[in-house]
Amino acid sequence: MPAFTATTPGKIILFAEHAVVYGEPAVAAPVHSLQARAVVNARVNGNPGQIWIEAPDISLSAPFINLNDNHPLRAAIKAVLGDRDPTQTPACRIHVSSTIPRASGLGSSAAISAATIRAFSAFLGQRLTDQEVSDLAFVVEIIHHGTPSGIDNTVVAHQKPVYYRKGAPLQLLPISAPFLILIADTGVPGKTREAVDGVRKKWLNDPEKINRIFSNIGLISEAAKDLIKSGSTKQLGPLMDQNHQLLKELGVSTPLLDHLVQTARDHGALGAKMSGGGFGGHLIALVEEGNETIGEKLVLAGASTSMITPVENRDLIS
Ligand code: PMV
Repeated sequence: MPAFTATTPGKIILFAEHAVVYGEPAVAAPVHSLQARAVVNARVNGNPGQIWIEAPDISLSAPFINLNDNHPLRAAIKAVLGDRDPTQTPACRIHVSSTIPRASGLGSSAAISAATIRAFSAFLGQRLTDQEVSDLAFVVEIIHHGTPSGIDNTVVAHQKPVYYRKGAPLQLLPISAPFLILIADTGVPGKTREAVDGVRKKWLNDPEKINRIFSNIGLISEAAKDLIKSGSTKQLGPLMDQNHQLLKELGVSTPLLDHLVQTARDHGALGAKMSGGGFGGHLIALVEEGNETIGEKLVLAGASTSMITPVENRDLIS
């Protein structure tokens, strides 16, 4: 029996993290050079119900039934099984791996869930649509983040840039002119759940002020969507700067993120901002061909790693 393999990219949020949790539109794109992978093999000598999980990145090698109820890999498998009786499932081994750094705001958890869901459902003879994969991965995201907006699972399952609004039908975002985004990691684990909780406390304390910030971020996203559609991508830089300022006002940036964002701008980035939940994690900068050395400057200034990813519409170039 052949192996069933699924790979899923990482993601970056270009605009409107946090505000997206409160219904504002956000813009995000896949990072294809980072990938989560799940491979499912039948265990010919195994008995029905013997589902073995191997995830060497987290030193896990165990039967599925031994995992805690709230273990994300167990949740991903249960999401696929639905009403099926797990004890009747053909025996298999699910191997999960990922090159997406964990807790860095690059969509590692959603990508691992989506890859596992896609490969395991294919093994069971069920080809899920991208939207079905996204919906099941969302269930697992709730375990990770508490109140996710759904943007991470949407981008990684559809593997395309999106203009995303919570609860609204999917809007893929066609990229008229590809552009380059530099991603630099602070080396400090991001704390999405804590950051989301912190923003909620601020919102409860002063809803008027925080709603104003959210709606300004939403306007930035709208403007960014139009620029991306029209191909005027250089003008995204100032929008990134403004979005970073508003994220600072929400209290989710850190001195290191601010320092690295400023360093990127000082060395020629067209704009820069933190990206993802914050309290650590990564920043992104809009760069042009020829100024890729900004990444080296960022590493000298304290970033742990840097890489460049194109934001492009893969359907147009394949
Ligand atoms: O840190 P990440 O990559 O999981 O991004 C979180 C984005 C938030 O807007 C802060 C939360 C969400 O669910 O959208």
